[in-house]
Amino acid sequence: MSSSEKVLVTGAAGFIGSHITDSLLRLRYNVVGVDNLSAGRLENLSFAFRQRNFRFIKSDILVDRNWIPEAKGISSIFHFAANPEVRHSIMEPLSHYEQNLTATMKLLEFGRKNDVGLFVFASSSTVYGDPERIPTPENHPLKPISIYGATKASAELMCQTYARLYGIKCLILRYANIIGSRLRHGVIYDFLIKLMKNKKVLEILGDGTQKKSYLWVGDAVQASINLAKLALESAHNIFIYNIGNNDWTSVTDIAKVIIEVLGLKDVKLTFSPGTSDGRGWPGDVKLMLLDISKLKRDLNWEPSLSSLEAVRIAAKSIAEELKII
Ligand SMILES: NC(=O)c1ccc[n+]([C@@H]2O[C@H](COP(=O)([O-])OP(=O)(O)OC[C@H]3O[C@@H](n4cnc5c(N)ncnc54)[C@H](O)[C@@H]3O)[C@@H](O)[C@H]2O)c1
Repeated sequence: MSSSEKVLVTGAAGFIGSHITDSLLRLRYNVVGVDNLSAGRLENLSFAFRQRNFRFIKSDILVDRNWIPEAKGISSIFHFAANPEVRHSIMEPLSHYEQNLTATMKLLEFGRKNDVGLFVFASSSTVYGDPERIPTPENHPLKPISIYGATKASAELMCQTYARLYGIKCLILRYANIIGSRLRHGVIYDFLIKLMKNKKVLEILGDGTQKKSYLWVGDAVQASINLAKLALESAHNIFIYNIGNNDWTSVTDIAKVIIEVLGLKDVKLTFSPGTSDGRGWPGDVKLMLLDISKLKRDLNWEPSLSSLEAVRIAAKSIAEELKII
């Protein structure tokens, strides 16, 4: 992957996809961004729209074909379009299957037919389910407990099979919780919206002891793009990396940081466990900390912020975007 090459980013108007797009543009790649704007927002692309090396196509990769002519000649696909809502996946399994697995198949097929060199797939820590080992290494068995996690694990298998069968390189990025500006789903966004409506009470889904690892989006994007470069330079075809932080934090601690960021006092925390063992909802993984030693070793990489520092920065950015502070 050298600059001036043309690459495709799906989900380009979404949270991670837009940050990936900005970084690729700064590195002088020609970026074709595709998004159906179901969750993505054009304002996330305000930097991108000012660049001459950017082209955006509003398109649903599941049904539309208008992105295909624009994507001819690309060397890599960064596939970030998906429905990332674990909770929603429990209620709408078939829709998740289509959005997350069928859509990935369509892109893999495009890649196969158009000699694309590299397929980067945005996977998730949820593929491990409730892990037997924490921190969880990449060779841990995949036992998802949500439909979302199952669609990611299935898509991973498809990517790897395309790599073995057709030679398209496949880079699987198993993200922990990625957070930062432009994020519009997950626990931080949920708490900010609730506190915007009611400054006295904050309802926490689960018993608050859920502990997970959070990584600032700037760190995640830097690691992801450098892994893509590494994959292209390597003689191998399949690459799987955990991308996360060295530490983790509880949901109750996240709530306290967000209350502090908003400058609120005397907020009463209430807890609504979605399951008998205190998860937020069925399918919610209660404990997640990825083993990131492979990433650190191969890229000589370190996260620049801890989980709670990342929460603080993300909460501040999103609160400013929502004009709460
Ligand atoms: N944010 C995280 O913590 C996290 C963690 C693990 C994995 N991931 C994965 O990373 C990717 C990006 O997640 P995100 O947090 O930026 O979510 P997001 O919802 O902000 O971005 C996804 C984007 O894809 C678009 N999209 C969805 N279906 C589409 C379709 N059929 N055609 C075209 N566009 C479509 C949406 O409009 C949205 O802009 C997803 O694959 C997600 O599963 C995210």
